[in-house]
Amino acid sequence: MFRLDQPIIITIDGPAGTGKSSVARQLAKRLGLDFLDTGAMYRAAAAIAIDHGIGLGEPERLVAKVIEADLHFDWSQDPPAMLAFGRSINSRIRDLDVTAIVSPVAGIAALRDHMVRKQRIIAAQHPRLVTEGRDQGSVVFPDAMVQFYLTASVQERARRRAQQLTAGGGQADTAALERDIDARDRSDMDRAVGPLRRPERAMVLDTSDLSFDQVVDELERIVRRKAAEP
Ligand code: DC
Repeated sequence: MFRLDQPIIITIDGPAGTGKSSVARQLAKRLGLDFLDTGAMYRAAAAIAIDHGIGLGEPERLVAKVIEADLHFDWSQDPPAMLAFGRSINSRIRDLDVTAIVSPVAGIAALRDHMVRKQRIIAAQHPRLVTEGRDQGSVVFPDAMVQFYLTASVQERARRRAQQLTAGGGQADTAALERDIDARDRSDMDRAVGPLRRPERAMVLDTSDLSFDQVVDELERIVRRKAAEP
């Protein structure tokens, strides 16, 4: 039994393209909780590596630069803006060159240690939180009140990504997108450090055949039901 007006951590993990981030944000809104996008933190580190000419083989330099950048969120924005060196890097962290190297960057052990510590500090400051990523239930918050793991088929995730690209006026090669998603899954799951894992306690939801609203409804229903349990 827990109360939704008291400290509560809800974790949402899963591979890229399952809609985790939008779902987590909407769930947080409905429940009146804060929303933490931990992928944005790894993306920020990848952007810093590129923009400061730091290679993947220089973990100490990278962590030092990330500390100097004083990565933090501006919680007055919706969603919270990722700041580095005092400036928002929200659009930079979605650039293609950042996306291309973020998975290996997220595999750097010293960087993960730093990020895990940072995420726990954020949770101490924002104790009513929906946090989303790859290791939030398995590593960072193993005692979280509710843990979810979202999945979807590679084909469906490629279809959703293609839709986003064409809606933004771009071109989409669905076969290439499927290959990219498959490669990123492998890279996230097979890396030695902080691999994507389904947490043991997590409730699994396959979103392949569900709309965005259906997914959020289902997660909200589960959380409220658990909160009402004796
Ligand atoms: O969710 P996303 O696409 O913004 O995540 C970017 C990358 O960061 C992705 O390759 C997985 C990695 N990541 C991670 O390793 N651990 C997290 N908690 C969040 C993201």
